[in-house]
Amino acid sequence: MTPRVLLLYYSYTNQTRRVADAMAEVFVAEGCEVTRLELTLSDQRFSLELPLQPFWRRILKFVVPQLLGQTAEIKFDEQLLDAEYDLVCIGSPTWWFYPAVPITSFLKLPAASKVLRGSRFAVFTVCRAFWWVNYRTVRRLATRAGGSFADSATFAFHGNQVQSMLSFLNYLQSGENRERFMGCRIYAFGVPDEGIEKAKSFARTLASSQLGHNSN
Ligand SMILES: Cc1cc2nc3c(=O)[nH]c(=O)nc-3n(C[C@H](O)[C@H](O)[C@H](O)COP(=O)(O)O)c2cc1C
Repeated sequence: MTPRVLLLYYSYTNQTRRVADAMAEVFVAEGCEVTRLELTLSDQRFSLELPLQPFWRRILKFVVPQLLGQTAEIKFDEQLLDAEYDLVCIGSPTWWFYPAVPITSFLKLPAASKVLRGSRFAVFTVCRAFWWVNYRTVRRLATRAGGSFADSATFAFHGNQVQSMLSFLNYLQSGENRERFMGCRIYAFGVPDEGIEKAKSFARTLASSQLGHNSN
């Protein structure tokens, strides 16, 4: 039987999507059937585009609803939940330490139980620097939805807290990958190439440890 993998994620600035792409490439090469379920945020309270302007007003507008644990309106292809998957990989960007709102919104829906009940799941967090609370929350909600935890990995940006923050602020405010911000040289925004290689290696590990596929 061909192992079936569901890659379920949300991505605003494309980094979680890039990690999912790298993982999908490896799963397919390892002989798995890969389905992608990308969540879309359709809630006006959290309307996002790039560049995000006026930046602070827009970004702070959704801190409060998020930290109060409120969910948002999301869209996804519900038909994809009808299939059974051997492994569900949940890709969760960090927003204010927690999972991005579309991820928590999905995991609290009955739809999450439909796809996770009786399935193994892996968590991949994508962030500037903070992943622990995001990971713990996704793990807890997915377990509550009936899934059983298999493995996790995290994909962070280059640099220390300040450096990654400058890259982040520059990119959201300008929508461009510039070399300098506020007079400082900055790293390129996003998961570096090493992170993408790590995503491939994570998918290889999952294929052999969770799907019984030995690539040797
Ligand atoms: C509203 C918002 C809040 C964020 N908060 C954090 C945070 O608390 N810690 C962190 O490390 N990264 C934070 N980030 C950075 C994202 O985790 C990072 O940009 C990641 O690439 C997002 O995934 P995506 O590119 O798939 O949208 C935040 C991003 C946004 C948009």
